[in-house]
Amino acid sequence: MLGEQTTANNVWDSKTQTFHGGQEHRFINNFVEDFSVTTNYLGTPPQALAAAKQAMGEIHHYPAANQEPAKTHLAEFLWGKDYAEQHGRLLMGNGASELIDLVVRKALLAAAERGQTQPTWKGSPWNVQYREYQRSAETNGFKILEPSNPERADMVCIVNPCNPTGDYFSVEPLKEWIKNNVKSGGSVIVDESMQPWHSAEFRKDSLISEHAYARDMWTEEQVSVHVMHSWTKIWSCTGLRIGSVICPTTAHCEALRKIQVPWSVNGPALAFVEAVVNEKDYLNETWENTTRLRAHLIDQLSSLEQSKEWVYHGKKFLSWVWLDMKSEAMAERAIDLARAAGVPVRSGKPGYKCNSFIRVAVRKEAEVAVLIQAWKSL
Ligand SMILES: Cc1ncc(COP(=O)(O)O)c(C=O)c1O
Repeated sequence: MLGEQTTANNVWDSKTQTFHGGQEHRFINNFVEDFSVTTNYLGTPPQALAAAKQAMGEIHHYPAANQEPAKTHLAEFLWGKDYAEQHGRLLMGNGASELIDLVVRKALLAAAERGQTQPTWKGSPWNVQYREYQRSAETNGFKILEPSNPERADMVCIVNPCNPTGDYFSVEPLKEWIKNNVKSGGSVIVDESMQPWHSAEFRKDSLISEHAYARDMWTEEQVSVHVMHSWTKIWSCTGLRIGSVICPTTAHCEALRKIQVPWSVNGPALAFVEAVVNEKDYLNETWENTTRLRAHLIDQLSSLEQSKEWVYHGKKFLSWVWLDMKSEAMAERAIDLARAAGVPVRSGKPGYKCNSFIRVAVRKEAEVAVLIQAWKSL
């Protein structure tokens, strides 16, 4: 980028990378709040942040090769007292992004072993979803099927709840969709990064608790179901990079570890996980307030004179609103106005090609007021 000024638009190399939100704060002098990412409105949990800072004093040592004791703490967070039985199925990574690519690469190897020369890949039934799954499938040579294509695929990846559309399958419809869309012997990723916002009972409506299902899919259909989590959203630590994947069996987990680089989760990130699972008040506050703040955001947006045609998509518990302004020109103006007021939002255009859409994060009332003020002149 020598000689050219870096901006939020050219910070991603469009030839080699996918556009994501979360970069504009670097280029805004009057920055107030980032509405362009789906992170928790509460910001980073304070005790976990302190633990990560303290671990900076240890960075002359390598991090734990087995990701412990952080991984055991995360297993306990996911499964409670039964965690020991499932622990071997859990692998952590440098953000979910690293693990997405690992599982896709493994799925390609599995397809090759089944004699598939051009394996197929399909995303969720919703028109768009978080793009890294498709990007990884494309770069690894999968043939991409349209969401509407009824053909079963060698690999299916569904983001549930779907970022950015906010669509959501509860467990039974999700299982049904998987059954109807993956080939026998195929691979599945269900991305539940946004699912912990569901409620304090989130585990009950999640594949993380469906042990028998994962086992039976594998033993009866040879379908490997993986549950992916990015922990950088619910715990607002995108700069730290923490993800995990639950594999169908311990053997699947070992096969992934074999192609994973060593020490991919750094020391401060491991210390963060160890501490964050104990921050119960933080999650209680998240469940208590996100739905209310999301309703407040929609209420404020609806009060704008220009909003008569706008449509608000997504489940009520989610940390963002997928807003259709029904006009590409208006969406472009809204993005510029938000940026100028120091409250960047995520355009639906780059990556998703949803030109009249904007993704707006749930944030506190005071910051929402700044965005609303900016959009009064739309
Ligand atoms: C649904 C979903 N999955 C995975 C990721 C990747 O997250 P990470 O920061 O853990 O790599 C994101 C990031 O936006 C996401 O929205």
